[in-house]
Amino acid sequence: MEIPSIRDLDVEGKTVIMRVDYNLPLDENGRVTDHTRISTTLKTIYYILNNGGKIVLISHLGRPKSREEHLKMDVVAERLSDIIGVPVKKLDYCSGDDVEMCVKKMKPGDIVLLENIRFYGEETEKNEATRDEFAKKLARLGDIYVNEAFAASHRSHASITGIPKYMPSCCGLSFLREVNMINSIVKNPDRPYVAIIGGAKEDKMLCIESLLPKVDRILMGGIIGNTFLKAAGYEIGDSKCDEALVTRAEGILKSCGDKIMLPQDVMVEIRGEPENLPISEVRKGMKILDIGPETIVHYKNVLRPAKTVVWTGPLGFFEKKPYEKGTLYIASFMAGLDAKTLVGGGDSISAMKRLNMVEKMTHLSTGGGAFADFITKDSFPGIEALKHSYEIHSHAIKKKVE
Ligand code: 3PG
Repeated sequence: MEIPSIRDLDVEGKTVIMRVDYNLPLDENGRVTDHTRISTTLKTIYYILNNGGKIVLISHLGRPKSREEHLKMDVVAERLSDIIGVPVKKLDYCSGDDVEMCVKKMKPGDIVLLENIRFYGEETEKNEATRDEFAKKLARLGDIYVNEAFAASHRSHASITGIPKYMPSCCGLSFLREVNMINSIVKNPDRPYVAIIGGAKEDKMLCIESLLPKVDRILMGGIIGNTFLKAAGYEIGDSKCDEALVTRAEGILKSCGDKIMLPQDVMVEIRGEPENLPISEVRKGMKILDIGPETIVHYKNVLRPAKTVVWTGPLGFFEKKPYEKGTLYIASFMAGLDAKTLVGGGDSISAMKRLNMVEKMTHLSTGGGAFADFITKDSFPGIEALKHSYEIHSHAIKKKVE
């Protein structure tokens, strides 16, 4: 079933509860350093406003344990307001009489941003009934729910899977585009189909396990690459690696034949200077910070005939020169391929931006964990919640008239 989108609903005069992922990167002074996640929601915001709706925005920011001053949504509201040129009223809470009163007074064209939804433990609460109680309160604030938070929709949180139980729900335009783009690239991939996996985090392991039967090759680097190098029996010195995943990596390497390619040479730092070594010459005390030039050549050879390439996670410590080279050279090479190219994950997006590669890929996903989940599982809780909601509340949904 297609996911219902905002274009399937009549928003005129309606209050639209819009879940966005404004989990923006902040610097040490609490200033927003990148607003891509705001930009991707603008189409849906304008669509609702131009069609006579009012918007109540809900987002999380960071992973607060309680009300943490530095994770309040004020800076986000200011940035959003600057971008769209319309005042955005930021409320200090997400539910309660004052919030309800304020929302009731909204007029078509108004936008309100609620406080960080993760200041409320019920948002992420494991117990579904408790989450749903909270979701019910949030649902009281509007007539329609729109999920425009692809990057958070792998979470079974109250504002993602709870609210759609209580009202007509749909996804936003960017969410729909994201799902369609990813599906069009990875559902029936043109071959050869190559995955590039770097960075860290456990979700990378899930990616590898799930992509292995589907792809022709996996090229590895970054911290997850170090984990596999260790599993393959190489000395990796003091390089970062995920010890807890080494045994799992050993099992994968035993069963995958030559599908996984590991760096044959690497860049390490010795007495503050970058040095290129064959992987077999890495010794105790050294740190692997990037893939080496020989590996770059090997990886390019594998990529050259590729027709589909999926990339998540940088191949080295790209924030620090000269260790951005592996990521940079592979990204530039990928940009010139006659292939569909898909890049996902927060760190991969930062890398592509830093390297001015954003426009050169077929699609860049806003999701990190969500991207990994989606390409490995084809769907996730946020999408299932919307589909389910459609079945229950479809009588309240105005069908699109072309
Ligand atoms: C992200 O940054 O990947 C999303 O905002 C989800 O954040 P989370 O991993 O804290 O749920």
